[in-house]
Amino acid sequence: MGLKTFWVKAKLKSDLMRCFRDGKIVKTVKRGDQNVDFFPQIHDVFVDEEKKAVRFVFTLKSGMDPELLTKREWVFRQVFGENIELSGKTKKFTLWVYSKGMPDNVKYVFEDIQPHLEELFMPLVIGYDRRNNLICLDLKEIHHAILTGSTGSGKSSLFRAILVSIMLYKSPQDVQFLLIDMKNSEFGIYRGGAHVKEVLMDQESVLKALQQVEAEMHRRSKLLDSEDVEHVADLEKKLPVIMVVIDEIIALVDNKKIMKILTNLSCLGRSAGVHIIGAMQSGRAKDVGGQFLNNMNCRISGKQSDATNAKVAGFTTAKNISTPGRMVLSLDGVETHVQVPFMDKQRAKKLLQPFKGKVIQDPNSDIQVSQSCMLEEIKEHIINEFTLEGMEEDE
Ligand SMILES: Nc1ncnc2c1ncn2[C@@H]1O[C@H](COP(=O)(O)OP(=O)(O)OP(=O)(O)O)[C@@H](O)[C@H]1O
Ligand SMILES: [Mg+2]
Repeated sequence: MGLKTFWVKAKLKSDLMRCFRDGKIVKTVKRGDQNVDFFPQIHDVFVDEEKKAVRFVFTLKSGMDPELLTKREWVFRQVFGENIELSGKTKKFTLWVYSKGMPDNVKYVFEDIQPHLEELFMPLVIGYDRRNNLICLDLKEIHHAILTGSTGSGKSSLFRAILVSIMLYKSPQDVQFLLIDMKNSEFGIYRGGAHVKEVLMDQESVLKALQQVEAEMHRRSKLLDSEDVEHVADLEKKLPVIMVVIDEIIALVDNKKIMKILTNLSCLGRSAGVHIIGAMQSGRAKDVGGQFLNNMNCRISGKQSDATNAKVAGFTTAKNISTPGRMVLSLDGVETHVQVPFMDKQRAKKLLQPFKGKVIQDPNSDIQVSQSCMLEEIKEHIINEFTLEGMEEDE
């Protein structure tokens, strides 16, 4: 470490200590007649020159209330400015300080996104973080995900970024979607698509379709057992991942049969390649059922109407969001803010037009798979279309 870096780090460390002192983030212990103050311990100060950001890692002393940090986040903003990100749960916390804010709008450009999808089994595009890294998760790792956020926060738009990216990148033999659209507003554009098994909008057909998926999950579990493998990806015969995507889960919570199947899928689906991604406006998160929510180990939240709703949905930092498409990703207790790349419905529809395919029945499965002739050519067409569009804009 050079001398300059040493002094920069020492100054940053003393700024953070000032936050602890001003915010009274301290544990005071009586020793005889005297009070002794213990502040959180700073373990690491990392200066990311390229991204123009600083990361602090610190731990609270045992016995300190972690809520102190969320309640007194303002003190970090007073010292370091508005562009900070504080994450952590019980003891260990990370504070990122950025030199500039995030963009409020990032256009969805498949060419930029495609390289990040490589090597992922089933990629979920989430958004660009404060360091402009595209965060893409793998469904094989996270299993299931839930999106919450008040109306207009950008949940349906995030579904669009996720679904369109998969449809452009993976073949219908790789993945089949069951799209449940209880608000009858979002998933119409995917109807008839080669990757889409069904678009459902009423409880009766939802129940029927989910019963089929559940039967398929059990069939696959037996197959895994008989072939002695851990995951459908390891089976000799390739089977498509089944993604159950639900816009507005709250509209289903009164139907016990449906919720029971969804809970079963959330418990047992992952090795069978059955995954759930659901969205709901927050507030009634607890109505969805503890076991189901517990299995949603990946949580994403847009802006929440108030701090209580943010808390119910399980987030500490979502209350600070005010921009549509800005989301907090919570994974293993770490909260990361991202901006979801945006495309409107018309654009999504246009991109997916070449994928409207002919549905065929796989004789070995209850799940129908659409025929994808010339998928590579279709992709080529799409990439060209993006390129042309980008060029038009540049002019
Ligand atoms: N990633 C984004 N970037 C920029 N603007 C966005 C983004 N996502 C959403 N918006 C804007 O916010 C509007 C509402 O988004 P969206 O319909 O996805 O919200 P929602 O959370 O699904 O709302 P609801 O709960 O009412 O269905 C969009 O029409 C768009 O104008
Ligand atoms: Mg919506």
